[in-house]
Amino acid sequence: MGKQKEDNMSDIRVIDLGGSIVAPDKVDTAFLKEFRLFIEDWLEADSARKIIFIIGGGAPARVYQNAFRELSPQGESEVLDSIGIAATRLNAQFVKSLFGELCADPVVTDPSSAISFTGRILVAGGWKPGFSTDYVSVVLAENFQARIIYNLSNIVKVYTADPKKDPDAVPLDHITWDKYKIMCGDKWIPGFNTPFDPVATARASASDLKVIVAAGKDIPNLRKIFNGEPFIGTVMES
Ligand code: UTP
Repeated sequence: MGKQKEDNMSDIRVIDLGGSIVAPDKVDTAFLKEFRLFIEDWLEADSARKIIFIIGGGAPARVYQNAFRELSPQGESEVLDSIGIAATRLNAQFVKSLFGELCADPVVTDPSSAISFTGRILVAGGWKPGFSTDYVSVVLAENFQARIIYNLSNIVKVYTADPKKDPDAVPLDHITWDKYKIMCGDKWIPGFNTPFDPVATARASASDLKVIVAAGKDIPNLRKIFNGEPFIGTVMES
């Protein structure tokens, strides 16, 4: 595993950006215009700041995986995952391109390798079958010695149960990994949509990482999170 050199001068934020934020059905250009400005301003305010984005598959992953399921109902889980990975890499290449010169290095496809991070922003896509980009964000956080992962998607808070299925589900400001593991189980299903995937949860918990789950499209709230002010979202930790 390619541990990066200790760089005490940098303030690296690891942001797990759900595909639901980049491409919920089609590419959300109106939001991305605003988001790009927010990120550029945040980086400009302090030259020590850097960002690692891990980009999810969003609509392209879902559309192609569902089409494959329809045409090949016996299709293997690994094949579905490989289709999803291709979608994450498409979205990642797109986000890298959006940030132009700020993003000098190629899209990361193996988060465990020795990675060159020469720009201000590094962008990663999916890695291999068996988990989601949440897992990639854990491996990158370990690789760059970050203690927090910002998990930004269309989920505003973690609930005690799936709020779409259980009317009694209650939103949480804080949850321990042990409690969350009971809720999310340990089984991986391609295209699975939980606040944080079960395989990534096991590793984040073992590495004692903190994950902050919040709405990716609420920019004023993101500003508060980055500035260490009170925010709307859920903290997951040991
Ligand atoms: P994600 O599940 O990470 O994208 O990847 P998403 O659905 O856009 O993410 P969120 O929930 O909004 O954050 C899409 C699919 O790609 C495959 C999986 O099948 C996953 O469901 N994938 C992704 C992998 O198999 N391995 C990876 O490393 C990443």
